[in-house]
Amino acid sequence: MTEQPTDTRGVIFDGPGRMPRVEELLLDPPQRGEVLVRMAAAGVCHSDLHVRDGEWERPAGIVIGHEGAGWVEELGEGVEGLERGDLVVLAWTAPCRHCDACRRDEPWLCSQPAGSGHRLRDEDVRLRRPTGEPVGAYGGIGTFGQHQVVAASAAIRIDRRTPPEIAALIGCAVTTGIGAVRNTARVEAGESVTVIGLGGVGLSAVMGAVAQDAHPVTAIDTSPAKLELAAQSGAHRTLLASEAQQSAGADHVLECIGLVETVELAIDLVRPGGTVTLVGMTAQGHRASFDVYRLVEDGKRINGSNYGSADPATDFPRIAREYLDGRLPLDLLITERIGLEQLDDAFAALRRGDGARRVIVY
Ligand SMILES: NC(=O)c1ccc[n+]([C@@H]2O[C@H](COP(=O)([O-])OP(=O)(O)OC[C@H]3O[C@@H](n4cnc5c(N)ncnc54)[C@H](O)[C@@H]3O)[C@@H](O)[C@H]2O)c1
Ligand SMILES: [Zn+2]
Ligand SMILES: [Zn+2]
Repeated sequence: MTEQPTDTRGVIFDGPGRMPRVEELLLDPPQRGEVLVRMAAAGVCHSDLHVRDGEWERPAGIVIGHEGAGWVEELGEGVEGLERGDLVVLAWTAPCRHCDACRRDEPWLCSQPAGSGHRLRDEDVRLRRPTGEPVGAYGGIGTFGQHQVVAASAAIRIDRRTPPEIAALIGCAVTTGIGAVRNTARVEAGESVTVIGLGGVGLSAVMGAVAQDAHPVTAIDTSPAKLELAAQSGAHRTLLASEAQQSAGADHVLECIGLVETVELAIDLVRPGGTVTLVGMTAQGHRASFDVYRLVEDGKRINGSNYGSADPATDFPRIAREYLDGRLPLDLLITERIGLEQLDDAFAALRRGDGARRVIVY
């Protein structure tokens, strides 16, 4: 094990509106219970854009990115169950296993996950600028960095035959979308499902619903290209947003954008007694409204779904196996492979709703 810092680089968020840029950094060796991961790939999720644009308040001075996978390069003391060379998917919520939420078996709601505080507390800092200034890591994992030290509990080993770009997407979009269908909404075979918004998250929800034998699965977006991708993903029917009313009466509606107008649309579209699952996230503080009389009279339910109500330790390896068995066409999610320097172009494409996922390949 080296005691020398590793030379690395990463994209630092320095406050809203300021263009995140690639910087040279120094990374300390892993300490007890930590591993050093050499990043293989990282997806660009709309949640990073919310941070970049200041829609979600996050501290400055952190390497952003929260969807990624890589190889374990060094183990800190006391780490069990991982070896050098393992392919790991990084979890942006790595549950503590003993808080109230964890004890209720709701690990995605853990109140003290590893990496809370974005590794900016003095004892957590492992990254520095060459000047010595401490740098944090978003969600404890900062996947837009070439290397990271993370809590071993945030590094989930999966089958090493999984392509790294696919592994990266399992770290957020795929688990969020598939988990929302299976774990939060608990969609059953034969139920009808409508997914509104077909980015990386929504397309994953479509694939999850198809794998669950839901019928029919309807996919809605403003972009015809997204409808085409949804059809290739197995959706039985695709509709432009202007045609959304044609899908009224579904057992389940999942909102995967994060817009007040489509949240309200989802509540309108679900059948009486049906379930709305909200996955997309607005800027902080936005409020949506619904007709209380109708919601109650119609016995509708509304769920919030955080991280697909998943437990990364079991859901990540399971999803990777299903991909390798040919049961999830996750390759369709990868629109383009890019370098770290092209992150801002990827953000611009997300704003336009262009493409499913752009993936940084290191
Ligand atoms: N709940 C969670 O745990 C969780 C996890 C990851 C991401 N998210 C959130 O999920 C949302 C989606 O993320 P993403 O990376 O897939 O985003 P994305 O930008 O790739 O996808 C959004 C899609 O919505 C479409 N769209 C935009 N306006 C529309 C409208 N009015 N009607 C229909 N379609 C419209 C766009 O064309 C695009 O295809 C974001 O808000 C993100 O922050 C939530
Ligand atoms: Zn994400
Ligand atoms: Zn916990």
